Amino acid sequence: MDIQGRSAFITGGQRGLGAAVASELLTRGAERVYVTAREPNESTDPRVVALSLDVTDDASVAAAAEEAQDVSIVINNAGVAGGIPLLRTPVPGSAAVFETNVFGPVRIAQAFAPILARHDESALVNMLSVLSWLAGAGAYGASKAALWSVTNSLRLELRDQGTLVVGVHLDLADTDMSARFADSVKTSPAVVASRVLDGIERNEVEVLVDDVSRDVKARLDGPVEQLTWSL
Ligand SMILES: NC(=O)c1ccc[n+]([C@@H]2O[C@H](COP(=O)([O-])OP(=O)(O)OC[C@H]3O[C@@H](n4cnc5c(N)ncnc54)[C@H](OP(=O)(O)O)[C@@H]3O)[C@@H](O)[C@H]2O)c1
Repeated sequence: MDIQGRSAFITGGQRGLGAAVASELLTRGAERVYVTAREPNESTDPRVVALSLDVTDDASVAAAAEEAQDVSIVINNAGVAGGIPLLRTPVPGSAAVFETNVFGPVRIAQAFAPILARHDESALVNMLSVLSWLAGAGAYGASKAALWSVTNSLRLELRDQGTLVVGVHLDLADTDMSARFADSVKTSPAVVASRVLDGIERNEVEVLVDDVSRDVKARLDGPVEQLTWSL
């Protein structure tokens, strides 16, 4: 589907990967981009609408959807790290990671599915991770594994209304989230954004951003104990 002339909504679009995706959407001709933050800053670009959003809060999600009735592209980008290792993380800490990374996108999908249904072509994009497939990242990895399953079920549930559901997998990208891995190779947010939008434009259901993600996906039929995260 074309990006040109569309309205898009990005959870967490004021920093990190979300901000890069917002910028790339505008470069490719999007007419309006809704970006969110829990404490949003107003944008000086008239094409950008900054909204307050906490994806863990039903009322907040409903209010944001009410403001963004024209969108045909929704990007579930917001996420938090944490919950590593599982054995030393109190369960409420792991549950909080799931609340943002799994149930947040589900809330967004529920609120925006009727909005997306109004368009002949529409897309819902979920930012996953290579850690959807690798052991060793505790509750964070488990949340991305769960979100992979959620993504695949949403693809079925949204098929009849013609919404493309895209799962994006990537290794480290250079944002606040990965700042503590100072010496690791990281993909720039601009490159991630470009690959995500290439995927939408080509109607792809899965975007494997980097070589690590492509390699791990290719190894899924191998020994499970070799599917382990290491830096
Ligand atoms: N960076 C990486 O290496 C990497 C690798 C694989 C996958 N990912 C995934 O890519 C996505 C973006 O990551 P990033 O690297 O850009 O992270 P980041 O720099 O830490 O930014 C996180 C974003 O999520 C938003 N957010 C967090 N909790 C939220 C909540 N409860 N409600 C609404 N928004 C919330 C933040 O908004 P506020 O401005 O309100 O804080 C912020 O925009 C995440 O889903 C992450 O898991 C990242």
